[in-house]
Order: sequence, then structure tokens, then C-alpha cells
Amino acid sequence: MRVGVLTGGGDCPGLNAVIRAIVRKGERGWGDEIIGFIDAWDGVRERRTTPLTIEAMRGSLPRGGTVLGTRRGSPFDDPDGVAEVQATIDDMGLDGLIVIGGNGSLSVACKLFTEHALPVLGVPKTIDNDIVGTDMTFGFNTAVQIATDAIDRLHTTAESHDRVIVVEVMGRHSGWIATHAGIAGGATVVLIPEHPFDIDEVCERLRRRHERGRYASIVVVAEGALPKEGSLAVGAREVDAYGHERLGGIGYLVADEIGRRTGFETRPVMLGYVQRGGTPTAFDRVLATRFGVAAIDAVHGGEWGQMVVARGPDVALAPLTEAVGRTRYVDMALYQDVAAVFFA
Ligand code: F6P
Repeated sequence: MRVGVLTGGGDCPGLNAVIRAIVRKGERGWGDEIIGFIDAWDGVRERRTTPLTIEAMRGSLPRGGTVLGTRRGSPFDDPDGVAEVQATIDDMGLDGLIVIGGNGSLSVACKLFTEHALPVLGVPKTIDNDIVGTDMTFGFNTAVQIATDAIDRLHTTAESHDRVIVVEVMGRHSGWIATHAGIAGGATVVLIPEHPFDIDEVCERLRRRHERGRYASIVVVAEGALPKEGSLAVGAREVDAYGHERLGGIGYLVADEIGRRTGFETRPVMLGYVQRGGTPTAFDRVLATRFGVAAIDAVHGGEWGQMVVARGPDVALAPLTEAVGRTRYVDMALYQDVAAVFFA
């Protein structure tokens, strides 16, 4: 078969491991020709390609980012977009496309399949771990490890100076990274988008901790966390070219308010893109490799319109329609019954 591959949306550790696995199983196991599209859908529309061979993918397993480049944006943004995708598939003699992407790219893949009958298969990726249908996405474990390492380091400087440190982590709609890194790093409080916070309550927890002689605290806040309505004014957020709110900054606001209301010396730290860059953990390399092998096998099974998913110990398939337009939120049992046990 001739199969196209693209990576869309934000980059994520493990993307190259997925591509490498598709290529390895495709070329050696199935005798396929795998073609990479550069810069996501732009590359498909403009036929910017690179041959993906076992040789070309050598050394890529531990490398972060994506050898194919990535973009946000969709062929549906342009009146000619879908026809161009269709023409690329036809003219290049492709049997189908494997789309490795997050909520946005998987929605595009789903629409191309359901409304235009194009042969596409999805592989879910995001460090945010918020895709419905899969127990986990690759990249998440790496992001949690990076955030946990940072929190471990911040504990010692916070303790030396008797400071509160507010660590902002990624998590646009869901607080998976914040909750896991908060548990793993021993945070005093974790603020997530699923559970609007009360800044008075946060300050009260910190005061109680001080009364017990614990003068250093770590507050973890997901970038998408918001205060309870009417409790704290959050400034308007910029919107990028694709209509996404540009997040990042709630940690500064929370740190300012804590400092002002409690008088405790408080500092913000924004981890930002550090969480998405660099080498994937062993766990993510294994998950990404399993997803890649399952994806090329599914292509040979004619499973268009599906995506590969992690279900318990297995890698399985689920319809793309299951994931689209939905968000996988943090399990409240994990947040309230486990993480919150350790809140001050
Ligand atoms: O979806 C993954 C993610 O890392 C989010 O946590 C974050 O809000 C967003 O991407 C940032 O994306 P961009 O690369 O567009 O700034």
C-alpha cells in the first residue's frame, strides 16, 4: 500500500516514535511505501512530501518534536481545501492517510471521513491527555515527569526562602498534568479547569499551613484553571489565528493575589513549552510505538474512520466520532479523593 502520514496540532513527545513504528511495520511487515506530509494539512494540500523509510527514521525514537513539522489549521478553513486533499490522495495514488493529532486534527479527520468518505485513520496525541475514547495519550507521561522534576527543584528553593511558589503547567480544558504532577510532586494545592477555585480558600489553606510551621508551599495551577465566578477578575485573553485563546498567565495572577492577601512572599513559575519539548519517557516511547504499529495494521484491515486507543492493557480501535467535540476531564475521584487529601 501507499500510505500518507501527517502530524497536526501542537507538538508532543513521542510523535517520532509513532512515525518510526508505522514505517518499520509498514515497510518491513507489509511491504508498504510510507510518505510523510510536511507541515500537516498544508503539506497535504501543497503536496510537500518526504519519503519515510526505515533508513530516514534512524535515530528518531528518542527525539522530541516531529520530523514532519506541524501546524494548526484545517483544510475546511479554505473553500478549496478538501478538494485539494482529495486530489492529493488520488493523484499520488495513496490508499489512505494516517493523521497523528489532537482534538483539532482528529475532528478534521473525522469530517473528511464522514462527510467526504476519504480514507483516514487517527492516532490521538496530546500532552494534555484530554481525548475521549483513549485511557491515555502519549506525551502526557513525559509532561508529568518534566513538571514533577521542576516541582522537586522548586521545593528546595521555596524551603530555603520560606516562599510560596505557584507553578503553572499546561492543561487547556483539563487538569490532568496539574493533578498528576501535583500528586507526584507533593503540592499544597492543585487548581484545575474542571473545578473553579476560590482564591480566599487557597489563601486560607496556605495560612493554616504557616500556622503549623510549614512556611514553604507549592501551588500547582493548570493554565486553563479559572476562579469561581465573581471571586477574582481575570483579564481578557488574546485569541490566536485559529481562534484558540492564548492561555498562560493565570499563575502570575494567582501568585500576585496570594502575596497580596497573605503577605507571604510568593513567586510564579510558568513551565510552558518546556513540558512539550525534548525526549519522551520510556513509557511514552512504548505507547507511541504500540500506537504506530496498531495504526498501520488497522490501515491494512481497512479500518478507515477509526483511531487507535489505549484501553486498559490493550491497544484497540474506536470510531473517530467518539472523540470529536468532546473533552476527557480529570476524574473527580482522583482529584477530590486522592490529590485533595494532601492539600493543606
Ligand atoms: O494541546 C496541547 C497544548 O500544549 C495545550 O496545553 C496548550 O494550551 C496549547 O497546546 C498551546 O499551543 P500553542 O502551540 O498553539 O501555543
